[in-house]
Amino acid sequence: MTHTLIYPHTTVHNAAGHLEIGGCDVVDLAREYGTPLYIYDEQTLRDQCRAYHTAFGALTDLYEIVYASKAFSCRAMCELVAQEDLSLDVATGGELAAARAAGFPLERVYFHGNNKSPAEIELGLDLGIGHFVVDSFEEIDRLESAAAARGQRQQVLVRVTPGVRPNTHDFIQTGQQDSKFGFGLADGRAHEAVRRLHDAPHLELVGVHAHIGSQIFEMDSYRREVEVLFVAIDDWRRDFGFACCIFNIGGGLGIRYTAADQPSSIAEFAAASVAAVREGAERHGMPAPKLFVEPGRSIAGKACVTAYTVGTVKVIPGVRTYVAVDGGMSDNLRPMLYDSRYEAMLASKALEAETEVVTVAGKHCESGDVLVRDVHIAPPAAGDILVTPSTGAYGYAMANNYNAQPRPAVVMVTGGEARVIIERETWDDVLRLQRPLGH
Ligand code: LLP
Repeated sequence: MTHTLIYPHTTVHNAAGHLEIGGCDVVDLAREYGTPLYIYDEQTLRDQCRAYHTAFGALTDLYEIVYASKAFSCRAMCELVAQEDLSLDVATGGELAAARAAGFPLERVYFHGNNKSPAEIELGLDLGIGHFVVDSFEEIDRLESAAAARGQRQQVLVRVTPGVRPNTHDFIQTGQQDSKFGFGLADGRAHEAVRRLHDAPHLELVGVHAHIGSQIFEMDSYRREVEVLFVAIDDWRRDFGFACCIFNIGGGLGIRYTAADQPSSIAEFAAASVAAVREGAERHGMPAPKLFVEPGRSIAGKACVTAYTVGTVKVIPGVRTYVAVDGGMSDNLRPMLYDSRYEAMLASKALEAETEVVTVAGKHCESGDVLVRDVHIAPPAAGDILVTPSTGAYGYAMANNYNAQPRPAVVMVTGGEARVIIERETWDDVLRLQRPLGH
């Protein structure tokens, strides 16, 4: 079912009876670029970036939107995000390398990660990135000595775990006390980290960071997070004279994967978080810090559909019909990892009634390699082009080479034109790093 809230904003059904995105016929795209194919709609990406600016900008001047590039990181995406005046969260040296290759303004990069390697720390310092988000005592020591060796002073945020548990999948909760990320507030580790940062001559602590999880629908968790963070920064003000300039509450705003999902809107997220920060500052008698949010999924998620070619249709009488496509868990790990539910439709039969209930299976050697269970689509046949919407976040980002499957291409569409932004891997690419046994 084509649902305007799930599919990219430019999606229509064209005269050929096909799905069309960004003015491009999806069946033609599949023919030209092959499948599986990630198709990103440039307009939707820009709309989402602008929706964040519009929503927060209407309420305050004291905000910054930081795109969490882990959701979808590549050169073209970093370029687009820079054009839309967003900053960038990178979680690894690889994501930093993409930002650099894109010419992203590096002073607007925030470097995350619970175990940054010495090489990553050095890369960040050498490139002059704006901020490290410090996550461990070892990192404080490593960063201090690397900055000292360069005669640099580096601005940092301290990442804390506020002990707030939003209602989302266990694997993507991050703000609870028992977490590999950051410093616990309740157990005193955050206080100790701030003390050490305060004493580190080459590090300048300018703010606090927390991220409570992902695919969050309700706003109460953010309100609680903000309250907890204010108590912390008030303590640090008292004990260390800390002045909080950057108040980063992380990302996590959920999106619709199916028509049944009811996430809060970007405007609701802005309203809740801006109000909470304003109230917190008043309650604690401090100037309002600049509010930072770090959306990934809600920028990239619905901008993309994945197109597949149907290869086989197996009817198991009285049980179910398996429609097997030419991708699966190698291009979308989320159904297997999180039991995530997706929609599906036949782009080649966009105007036909969706009379069949089928299960869309991948081509990998695992029974669990199922993309969508029990979904209504038009009567399928081999050769049809099937799409799953809302695959723009953590789709390509988590793609892998299981079964030596080459990773798909990514195209960006706009105004009737498609541009390859990530080439399709070939079998040669998959073999490229392999060497013979040699004896
Ligand atoms: N900031 C930090 C520090 C994060 O760890 C994350 C996501 C974000 C921002 C962005 O969160 P978002 O707005 O995208 O929810 N692979 C999982 C999601 C993992 C999220 C990891 N961190 C999935 O496919 O659902």
